Amino acid sequence: MLKSVLITGANAGLGKETAKQLAMRAGVEKIYLGCRNMDKALAAKAELEQQTGRRIYETLQIDVSDLDSVRAAVAALPEPVEGLLMNAGGTGGQKFYETNTDGVTQIFAVNLLGHTVLTNELLKAGKLTKTAVYAGSEAARGVPEMGMKRPDLTSSSVDEFAGIASGSVYASVKDATVPYGPIKYMAALWMSAMARDYPQIRFVTMSPGATTGTEGFETLSWLRKHVMKSMMKVMLMIGKVHKLEVGAQRFVDGLLSETYQSGGFYASQKGLTGLLGEQSEIFADLANVQYQNNAKQAIERFV
Ligand SMILES: NC(=O)c1ccc[n+]([C@@H]2O[C@H](COP(=O)([O-])OP(=O)(O)OC[C@H]3O[C@@H](n4cnc5c(N)ncnc54)[C@H](OP(=O)(O)O)[C@@H]3O)[C@@H](O)[C@H]2O)c1
Repeated sequence: MLKSVLITGANAGLGKETAKQLAMRAGVEKIYLGCRNMDKALAAKAELEQQTGRRIYETLQIDVSDLDSVRAAVAALPEPVEGLLMNAGGTGGQKFYETNTDGVTQIFAVNLLGHTVLTNELLKAGKLTKTAVYAGSEAARGVPEMGMKRPDLTSSSVDEFAGIASGSVYASVKDATVPYGPIKYMAALWMSAMARDYPQIRFVTMSPGATTGTEGFETLSWLRKHVMKSMMKVMLMIGKVHKLEVGAQRFVDGLLSETYQSGGFYASQKGLTGLLGEQSEIFADLANVQYQNNAKQAIERFV
């Protein structure tokens, strides 16, 4: 049971649906909607209150790709939260490959760097007390069904992970789905390292699975967006992907159920939907403690 939860990227897609489902759970008394755009945040709050009949939502301005904004959000959070859902993310916009002032690509900033600073700052301030869930992806162990290869690292060294963060590994790549998998892989490794460093907090990486009805493909190039959307429609018809409610349910379970152990990475056992399984059974590198520490150390170079 969690009394209070902060969700990043809560105004759309899986974040908003998770905020809705959590309100139906006994004991949940406060949900902070972490959003970068306050108009969208207020619209989501009004919609969620109307749908759930519960006035438990507060907005919190946070742009996870801007570390000043992340630190300001932690300072502005009026009380500790028991749960954190690191959900904001995706493909990083049309210019996902551009580096920001922290020296990381936009896609890395939104999926990972900001969340690492958010978690560390919350912990430092005593404002995260029980559970942290990260929105992982099956892309972290490769998804042949979607044409995504398993992350193909040569050494999994600190330098190689830093190259993923800065984008130097993908200098000529203009397809966001290429760095997306390795970044989600690094995120899962970082979460496992955090689980060892903070045994009092449950750190769970949970993939929502391939989920339709989100805005996840909106910032891809026109062609890629239409290819992905058409593929998702066909895959929904043949049961290879699932609806928004199912994806969000995985996040709710990751937050509330102790079945999901600290340091674990849970995603589809096969493909992109269906039963959940520990992903290190599919991709053993995820359980490599040295790789976990290397990923964490590489991230720290940019803070
Ligand atoms: N959908 C899937 O099939 C799938 C599968 C595996 C993993 N995931 C992961 O699940 C998470 C949610 O995906 P989704 O499909 O629900 O995406 P979505 O519909 O595109 O929603 C993304 C949310 O994140 C917010 N966001 C984006 N950049 C942000 C930033 N810099 N700071 C704060 N908020 C930001 C967006 O806000 P704006 O409205 O302001 O843009 C939006 O509220 C992502 O981490 C994604 O990688 C999704």
